Amino acid sequence: MNFHSMSVEELRNTRNDLQKRYETLCAAGLKLDLTRGKPGADQLDLSAPMLSLPGENYTSPNGTDCRNYGGVSGLPELRELFGELFATGTDRTLALGNASLQVMHDIVVFSLLHGNVDSARPWSAEPIKFLCPVPGYDRHFGITELYGIEMINVPMNPNGPDVEACAALLADDPSIKGMWLVPTYSNPTGYTVTDDVARRLLALDAAPDFRIFWDNAYAVHTLVENAPAPLPILDLAAEAGHPDRVYVFGSTSKITFAGAGVAAFASSKANLDWYVEHISAATIGPDKLNQLRHLQFLVDADGVRAHMARHRDIIAPKFQLVLDILDDRLGDAKIASWTTPEGGYFISLDVVDGTAARTIELAKNAGIALTAAGSAFPYKTDPHDRNIRIAPTFPTTDELRTAMDGVATCALLSATEVLLDSA
Ligand SMILES: Cc1ncc(COP(=O)(O)O)c(C=O)c1O
Repeated sequence: MNFHSMSVEELRNTRNDLQKRYETLCAAGLKLDLTRGKPGADQLDLSAPMLSLPGENYTSPNGTDCRNYGGVSGLPELRELFGELFATGTDRTLALGNASLQVMHDIVVFSLLHGNVDSARPWSAEPIKFLCPVPGYDRHFGITELYGIEMINVPMNPNGPDVEACAALLADDPSIKGMWLVPTYSNPTGYTVTDDVARRLLALDAAPDFRIFWDNAYAVHTLVENAPAPLPILDLAAEAGHPDRVYVFGSTSKITFAGAGVAAFASSKANLDWYVEHISAATIGPDKLNQLRHLQFLVDADGVRAHMARHRDIIAPKFQLVLDILDDRLGDAKIASWTTPEGGYFISLDVVDGTAARTIELAKNAGIALTAAGSAFPYKTDPHDRNIRIAPTFPTTDELRTAMDGVATCALLSATEVLLDSA
């Protein structure tokens, strides 16, 4: 029954029933974790054969002895593979170290210290800001917070960031230098930026050194058979007259091994030259043996897509399970809404305003760890205290079922509490 149309007495009875159910949940002594979007062990097993590569076969197809120093831009064949997956082309794509997040971090730091190719002075010469579509990825916001860059929330809609809001902010504020964006199966909503929104973002008036950090972490992480083709975002940027506006990131972290994959960075030639110049002070080259084993194992872009279909077979049922439980337990009560992603690693659950932190706390006390309240927002502050990020991939199916059922009980109980408070 819809909680919003219940009488006070009905609400009280419902709360008492839920309280009993919650006590039973607590008595079960659970220890479950729905926090981080990590692949499950069965997903990691898919890439186990890669661990025996490259063996004695340590020469890359272009003749590079991968045991030695050099090749700061990465193996050409892997650049080609990434260039196809991200629709950025071989020449504009680098294959780098193990973490795309580190590349993003370094680019922010290089820009603060030196400015980028279009900056009149270092970003740190004056207070600067970043646009942050919300809810978004906590670690993006962690980078900008660490370096004192002011973050401005803009709504993330099902077709991408609210372009009007971005336009209004950018028009009269040249101190806005960047924007975080997860364009495909966004973390945590699962939303994907459409061609139209992308073109409009690329055409906006902004400071010449404004950059979109196009973090395509989930470019190929589809839960459905017909995934959308990646937008040729660098070509679109050039067409819009802003060829240097976009930095594209990705990695194989959730394709092969999380934390032991290969990162990709793609951008205009000017931006790549700038990046390589700066990173060359820090490294003589990436781990080419790891790059080579990726190449030998994945072979090409089709190989990656086939591999991702195997991931999909494992995780799509887990997403469906979460959606079924949400529907079954929360559907009638009308106290929550949630996204139904076609890819990525998360489901974004919105509960009654003012109850996300309480729901997360109740779950924690029952032994179910959820991502901390507010995590998907700059400064860890969810203005409505309503968003909860659900990460279905890591637990087993049985753990996931128990955990989600528990989360639903906590969300319902918190809802009755605030509704009674305001009755
Ligand atoms: C949007 C997004 N970007 C980047 C990362 C991390 O990528 P990497 O392992 O390449 O550093 C994650 C991991 O959860 C993510 O969700």
